[in-house]
Amino acid sequence: MTREEARDKITDLSEKLHYHNNLYYQENVSEISDFEFDKLLNQLISLEKEFPEFLSPDSPSQRVGGTITKNFDTVYHEYRMLSLGNTYSEEDLKEFDLRIAKNLEEQPYEYICELKFDGVALSVKYENGILKQAVTRGDGTKGDDITSNAKTIRSLPLKINKGNIPEKFEVRGEVFMPNDVFDKLNKERESQGEEKLANPRNTASGTLKMQDSSIVASRKLDCYLYSLYGVDLETHEESLAFIKNLGFNVSMTYQKCRNIEEVISYVQKWESKRHELPVETDGIVIKVNSIAHQNELGFTAKSPRWAISYKYKAESAATLLKGITYQVGRTGAITPVAELEPVQLAGTTVKRASLHNANEIERLDLRIGDMVYVEKGGEIIPKVTGVDLTLRKVDNQPFNYIKHCPECGTELIRKEGEAVHYCPNTHGCPPQIQGRIEHFIHRNALNIESLGPETIKGLLDNGLIRNYADLYHLTFEKINGLSFQIYSDKKGDNSTRSLREKSARNIIESIEKSKNIPFANVLFGLGIRYVGKTVAEKLVEHFGNMEQLLNASLEDLIAVHEIGERIAVSLRAFLDEDENIQLIRSLEQSGLQLVDTTEKKEPLSNLLNDQTFVISGVFQNHTRDELKTIIIANGGKIVSSISKKLDFLVAGDKMGPSKLEKATKFGINIISEEVLQDMIK
Ligand code: IVH
Repeated sequence: MTREEARDKITDLSEKLHYHNNLYYQENVSEISDFEFDKLLNQLISLEKEFPEFLSPDSPSQRVGGTITKNFDTVYHEYRMLSLGNTYSEEDLKEFDLRIAKNLEEQPYEYICELKFDGVALSVKYENGILKQAVTRGDGTKGDDITSNAKTIRSLPLKINKGNIPEKFEVRGEVFMPNDVFDKLNKERESQGEEKLANPRNTASGTLKMQDSSIVASRKLDCYLYSLYGVDLETHEESLAFIKNLGFNVSMTYQKCRNIEEVISYVQKWESKRHELPVETDGIVIKVNSIAHQNELGFTAKSPRWAISYKYKAESAATLLKGITYQVGRTGAITPVAELEPVQLAGTTVKRASLHNANEIERLDLRIGDMVYVEKGGEIIPKVTGVDLTLRKVDNQPFNYIKHCPECGTELIRKEGEAVHYCPNTHGCPPQIQGRIEHFIHRNALNIESLGPETIKGLLDNGLIRNYADLYHLTFEKINGLSFQIYSDKKGDNSTRSLREKSARNIIESIEKSKNIPFANVLFGLGIRYVGKTVAEKLVEHFGNMEQLLNASLEDLIAVHEIGERIAVSLRAFLDEDENIQLIRSLEQSGLQLVDTTEKKEPLSNLLNDQTFVISGVFQNHTRDELKTIIIANGGKIVSSISKKLDFLVAGDKMGPSKLEKATKFGINIISEEVLQDMIK
C-alpha cells in the first residue's frame, strides 16, 4: 500500500468508526456487529502502526489506549473547579431557598435538579470540535492531565460531527464505573486471587490515574456531563440541551423545579428510585437555572452560591445480631461475619454483614443478642455500623474473638501490622486445602472443568487426594463409582453421590489435558498470596522457568517490573517452605509445564544485550511506545523506575527534574533518542 492509499484508508476507517461509535452512544443504534466494529478498528490500528505519521489525536484507535504516562502533567484550570455546599435535610434546603430569594431580591427564579453522581469530576476541552485535553479536578485550581485515559471513555466524543459549533469550549461532568462493570471486575479479580475493590467510585478514581491507558480502556468507564463553559447561553437547562445535542452523555434524570417544594418532591422521588440506575448516586444537586442569576449570586471562596447538594443518608436498618460466624479463606485468613435477622435494605434482603476483623468487633462492642445497625453505603457488602445500646439486654455478654481456627482447632496468629487473624495450619486445615484445590482447578489456572467443589470434597474425604499435586495420581479405576457425601446445607440434609463412569472419564481426561496448560497458569494456580494472574505472567516473563524462580533472591524478585516488596516477601516465603517444594516437584514429575514455552518474537538484534532502559519525557522522532518497541526488539529491557542497577535513561524534553537528579546521583548513562538510534545501527 502506498502512503497515499494508507492515508485515505485511515481517514475512511476513522470516519466509519466515529460514525458507528456516535450512533451507538448517542442514539443507541448499531448498524454493524461488535465483531465487525472490532475488525475495522483493528485494521485502523495496524495501519496506524505501519504509518504512524497519519495517527491523529482524535483517531478512534485512541479508545483502546496504549499510551503509558508515568507522571501526569499538572494543568491549571481556565475556570476554577469548585465544590458544592452540602445539605442533609428539607429544612436546610428551605434555608438555601430563602437565601436565594433574598439575594435575587424578588426576581422570579427556577431550579434545575440533577442527581449527584458518585464518581470523579472531569473537565474536558474541545477545540474545533476535537477533544484536546481532559483534566481532573485536583485542588480546584489545577489538576492532572489525563487526556489519554479519558479518550478511552467510549461515550465521550473524540470528534464532534456537528456543523455549527463554537471554536473552543469546555464541558464538565462525572466519570464513573457502571455498577455492572464494577461487579464483573470484582468477580474476575476474585477468581484471579486478587483483592476485591471496595466500591465503584474509588475504582473509577484509581482507574483514571492509571499509567497504562489500555488497562483504562478495559475498565469500561463512562461519564455524565453536566456543565458547559465558554458558550453564552441563558439558562443551565439550555446548556444541558446544548451538550446533549453535541453528542455528550447527559443523564436525562434532571428536572426543572419552579419552587423548593418541587425540589423536595424531586429529592423524595429519587430517594429509592436512584438504586435502579446503572451508577451510584449519593444525593442531588440543585442549581439556579438562569445564568444571569447565577452571575448575580456569585461564589463563596469554595463553592457557588447558586447551587447546593443534598446528600441522602447512607441507608441503614436495625436488626438482631443472631450470631457471629467465621469464614476461613484459602490463604487461612479468618473473616468474621454477622449473622442477622433478615432485614430489607436499599432494595435487597440482608442476612449477613461483614465485620472485617476482631478490632472492628471490639470497636463496636458488639454482643450477640444486640440490635445492630446495618448500612449500605458506597460499599457493595453491607456493614454493621453500631449498636442500639438502649435495647441491650443485661445478659448480652461481651464478645470474645475466637483464639482457635473454627475448622481445624489450630491456634490463630496475627501477622505484625495486620488486623486479620490467620490459621497457620496451611497444609492441614480442611477449608484451606479445599480452597487451594478449587483455586488450582479454576479456569484461569489449570482449567480442570469437570471437577466441582463437591467432588473435590469427596476425593479429600475418601483420602484419594491431600493436595492439588495428588490430582495427577488419580486414575480412572480409583475414582470410577466412588461414592461420597454431599453436604447440602446447614440443616444437615446430606445425601450420597457416586461418580458415574462418564464423569470419572471426564475428570481423568481434563486432568491429563491440564498438563499442557502454560506455566503462568500453573504458577497462578499454586495459590501464592498476592500472586494473581497478572503477577504470575510478569514473573514467568522475567524468570522463564520454575528453577530460576526458586533460585531468585528477595532482591531479584523486587527488581522485577511491578513486583513490590509485599508480593516478593510472600512469594519467597512460599518457595522456602518444604511442603511447597515437594508439591512443585511432584507437579514437575507429573509433567506439568514449569517452563515458559509461549512463543516470543525473535529480536531484530541483540545489540542492547539485556541492558535496562528507562524512557522519560517527550521525543522529537518517536513516541515513548515506539522507543520501547525498538529497545525490546534489539534485546534491551524496559524498567519503570530509576535504580542504581539501571543502565540507561533515555531522556526527552519535559522530563521530570527529580528523575534527572536521581539518575545523575546514581551515575547512570543519560542518553538522547539519537544516541539510542546509534546504539542499534
Ligand atoms: S455541579 C460548581 N452537578 O459533586 C458546581 N456536580 O461536591 C460544580 N457532582 O465536584 C458541580 N454530580 O464531582 C455538579 N450533577 C452534578 C454532579 C456534581 C456529581 C460532583 C462533582 C463536584 C462535586 C461537588
